[in-house]
Amino acid sequence: MEQTFVMVKPDGVQRGLIGEVISRFEAKGFTLVGLKLVQVSKELAEEHYDVHKERPFFSSLVEFICSSPVVAMVWQGKGVVASARTVIGATNPLTAAPGTIRGNYGMSIERNMIHGSDAIETAQKEISLWFSKKELGSWEPTMTPWLHE
Ligand code: RTP
Ligand code: MG
Repeated sequence: MEQTFVMVKPDGVQRGLIGEVISRFEAKGFTLVGLKLVQVSKELAEEHYDVHKERPFFSSLVEFICSSPVVAMVWQGKGVVASARTVIGATNPLTAAPGTIRGNYGMSIERNMIHGSDAIETAQKEISLWFSKKELGSWEPTMTPWLHE
């Protein structure tokens, strides 16, 4: 089953929006299979954002992600990678659609609250970077027949 990596960034944790993020994905119908609070090391932040290492905002992004705890999650479900990105909204919260998480709660591109993997392959890489196999649960919600025909 498809899985994606979602992270509530330090601004989302500090602003008390962890529960809001979890509620949105639960209500949508996705299944939570991994969850932990992490004080991110510089090494982990640099590895996670490795694709952006040549970008001018890389060092401030790494510093920000390490500045306060984040909440790392793995969500599972049909089409979850692309769907999570839709629920999250565009990178810049000022132009993100209303109703999306960033559209509802964000103000600035560098304080956009939440991360979601951008492709199935990226999701697999990020899940194995952030979680050990032992930390991931495997369960079938009893409501599944009410979510899919
Ligand atoms: P994310 O990886 O965090 O889910 O965000 P994303 O795919 O929507 O955006 P991406 O292009 O991967 O950028 C990663 C994070 O870097 C920060 N950023 N700052 N100052 C800037 O121009 C700028 N551009 C991107 C954002 O926090 C973005 O989420
Ligand atoms: Mg990205």
